[in-house]
Amino acid sequence: MYILSVETSCDETSVAILKNQRELKSLKVYSQIEIFKNYGGVIPEVASRNHVKKITKLIEDSLIEANLKPKDISLVAVTIGPGLIGSLLIGINAASAFAYINDISIVGVNHLAGHIYSANLVKEINFPALALIISGGHTDLVLINRHMNFSLLGKTLDDAAGEAYDKVAKILDLSYPGGPVIDELAKKGSDIYDFSRPFLKDHGFNFSFSGLKSSVYNLCNKLKGNYKKEDIACSFQNAVIDVIIYKIKMALKKYNVNQLLIVGGVASNSELRKRVTNEINNIEIVIPPKKFCTDNAAMIAAAAYFMETSPSNEQSYIFNTNPKLELSKNESKDY
Ligand code: KG4
Ligand code: ZN
Repeated sequence: MYILSVETSCDETSVAILKNQRELKSLKVYSQIEIFKNYGGVIPEVASRNHVKKITKLIEDSLIEANLKPKDISLVAVTIGPGLIGSLLIGINAASAFAYINDISIVGVNHLAGHIYSANLVKEINFPALALIISGGHTDLVLINRHMNFSLLGKTLDDAAGEAYDKVAKILDLSYPGGPVIDELAKKGSDIYDFSRPFLKDHGFNFSFSGLKSSVYNLCNKLKGNYKKEDIACSFQNAVIDVIIYKIKMALKKYNVNQLLIVGGVASNSELRKRVTNEINNIEIVIPPKKFCTDNAAMIAAAAYFMETSPSNEQSYIFNTNPKLELSKNESKDY
């Protein structure tokens, strides 16, 4: 079974072709980071326009790379939310048109389910599993009892972890996206500023990163430039990772799971990867390689493999998009 998938929820235009569960035949990612570096963040309208420019060519290039024809594709998968509505619509229209013209079934995939299934690209998910999705828009702790069945244990009540990295980078006058830059800077710094660990021992499995970001802002103002960015980066990052590890350990204590999956853009963070492996024991941990952590279409195909689909002659090619789509107990239904 070949699945062709399309992901355009934010500023990455991505197409992949996956054979069955994890044989990746092609993965194309066009990132608009270079464009948005100049602005310090994503401009939704500009992102949509760039998706339009790239998406058709990426579908063609993906088929060429996989050495396949459209008729070889058994299923098309596309991200329908959460994300930027304009960007999502470009991917949905391109994927629907491709599926309709070639008489292929199509399935709409929740971007967050995609992030979780990025783990299945490297290792079969062993249920029950605990997943932490840490990205630019989400910080969600999720319990997964079987395929496509998700129970949200906790989430950020304000900024997502990635968002905090991006905003702290802005305070320090670093480029966008802030995560990778802070990751590198922190390696050269010392943890000399004692930032609070928000929600550490209260608020259950929920997170909060906006106060931490404000603490960084206030400290930088107070020090009037008399600090090393490396030290701020290192101290901020340690505060984020301390909270993340604490909450994971709390969840592992309460829920008896077989696997821990850490996914999403922030899962690329080198210090987090190191500390999770060193400090969390007696459980199989799956953290996908970086190319599967940040937004990519391979993870969308990986989730689609486990979704129910309609035969193409009963297929609707019209999709609703939902910028605020959440994970549900049953993501296996067709949209
Ligand atoms: O999953 P993703 O590509 O897009 C969303 O769905 O949001 O995540 C992007 C986020 C950005 O906030 C970026 O700064 C962060 O992931 N990120 C990192 C690293 N690489 C990307 N954060 C910390 N350390 C990194 N190495
Ligand atoms: Zn994402």
